[in-house]
Amino acid sequence: MEPKLIPYSKQRYSAEETKARSIEHLNFMEGRRTVREFSSEPIDFKVIENIIMAASTAPSGANKQPWTFCVVTNAALKSKIRIEAEKEEYESYTNRMSDEWLEDLSHLGTDWQKPFLEEAPALIVVFRRPYELVDGKKRQNYYVYESVGIAVGYLLEAIHYCGLVALTHTPSPMNFLSTLLQRPENEKPFLLIPIGFPKEVTMVPNIKRKTKDLVIVKYDNF
Ligand SMILES: Cc1cc2nc3c(=O)[nH]c(=O)nc-3n(C[C@H](O)[C@H](O)[C@H](O)COP(=O)(O)O)c2cc1C
Repeated sequence: MEPKLIPYSKQRYSAEETKARSIEHLNFMEGRRTVREFSSEPIDFKVIENIIMAASTAPSGANKQPWTFCVVTNAALKSKIRIEAEKEEYESYTNRMSDEWLEDLSHLGTDWQKPFLEEAPALIVVFRRPYELVDGKKRQNYYVYESVGIAVGYLLEAIHYCGLVALTHTPSPMNFLSTLLQRPENEKPFLLIPIGFPKEVTMVPNIKRKTKDLVIVKYDNF
């Protein structure tokens, strides 16, 4: 296929503005936290839709956009998801996770119980699509994990930008989500993300983020 190119222009800022914007954005992102205690206050569906469409602007291998975002607000379905997630999480916390893993999780205070799956007003269930079915034939998608991971990063940032909070949850294994949400065979569950407003008094673990000397390696004289 012949490539079709269109003009693209990007707003430029002065050096000072660029620096100010980078600081402002960093400060904003430093305020994002994973929250596990949600108020039941509903969210306007239009807001959820916009957040998801912001996520869907993410780059992806060969522009295949290999993701589907399912939004669950139905109370009965949220309850079923909680029951199945807790079954798996009980098994993981009591039998499947190594001692090292449990030790690494201990500072977060998490356990097999997942009340937030019912308390949060909405659950966004992200599916990755390893391939598409076009006229009954499989068409491969590329760098699916990388692409969907970036899209979820955008999703989390959009949620934070709108003044909402989220939990990146990975009940393991997650196959029950395909069954409960009746997803097609070319979709695999990737993450389960409750979103909403935090409870009036919400506690989060006192975590430390790595400092720049541990995160950045320079190969030039900046
Ligand atoms: C891929 C991934 C899976 C995660 N799975 C869970 C989970 O199943 N349950 C949970 O409570 N937190 C989970 N988290 C949240 C992390 O514990 C949290 O991001 C980390 O402790 C840093 O805290 P912060 O997000 O507030 O900066 C997960 C995060 C990521 C990125």
